Formats: sequence, structure tokens, C-alpha cells
Amino acid sequence: MSTETPDGFVELVEADELWDDEMDSYDVGDEEVLLVKVDGQIHAYDAICPHQSISLAEGEFENGLITCRAHEWQFNAVSGEGVNPLGNCLTRHDVRINDDGMVEVRLRESAGTRGPRH
Ligand code: FES
Repeated sequence: MSTETPDGFVELVEADELWDDEMDSYDVGDEEVLLVKVDGQIHAYDAICPHQSISLAEGEFENGLITCRAHEWQFNAVSGEGVNPLGNCLTRHDVRINDDGMVEVRLRESAGTRGPRH
């Protein structure tokens, strides 16, 4: 079970276990968090697609793009911004690597981006 640091971060996985161009999802409380690694940098996002609440972990991650399996919306894995269609954005969470080499994440408010959209 994960424990929370005094400043609100939760330890998830060894940083070395996540490879470049790989993504994986983790439960943090009631939230599903997506970790992606691009050029050695780890980014953390809300794992639920802002379109219709499908887990992005079930999609694909290739050439720096996260693609939702449901309707193939695509997001830039570094910025979290929608590429196709434009105008959407994944909710980014704070991420850091602690002294033990573990990835830690602190959830941000999801700003009400969930729910059915068309
Ligand atoms: S639910 Fe992700 S693109 Fe539709």
C-alpha cells in the first residue's frame, strides 16, 4: 500500500522500471494515473480520456503520442495537449523522483474534465 509524503506525494514505482516510450497506469486513491516516459523524462497525467472517460492505459503510446483506443483522440505525451482534435488537454499531475529512485506523484484537481462529451 502506498503512503503519502507530508507534501502530498505518493510513491508509485521505481523510475528505472519505466522505459522510454513506455506508459503504464497506477491507482492513486480513487484516481487512475498514467505515467509516460519520453527522452528520459517522466510525465504524469489523469489516465481517463477527457472525451468519454475511457482509460488511456488501454490505448497506444507511440512516437510521443498517446492514442485513446475508443475514438483515437491523440495527445502529446510531453505537453498533454490534444493533437487530434486540438483544444483538449490531459490533466497533468506533479511528478518527481525521490532519493530512493522511486517515482512519486501528487494529484492535481481534475477541474471537472470528466464525463460524456461529443
Ligand atoms: S473516449 Fe477517448 S477518444 Fe473517445
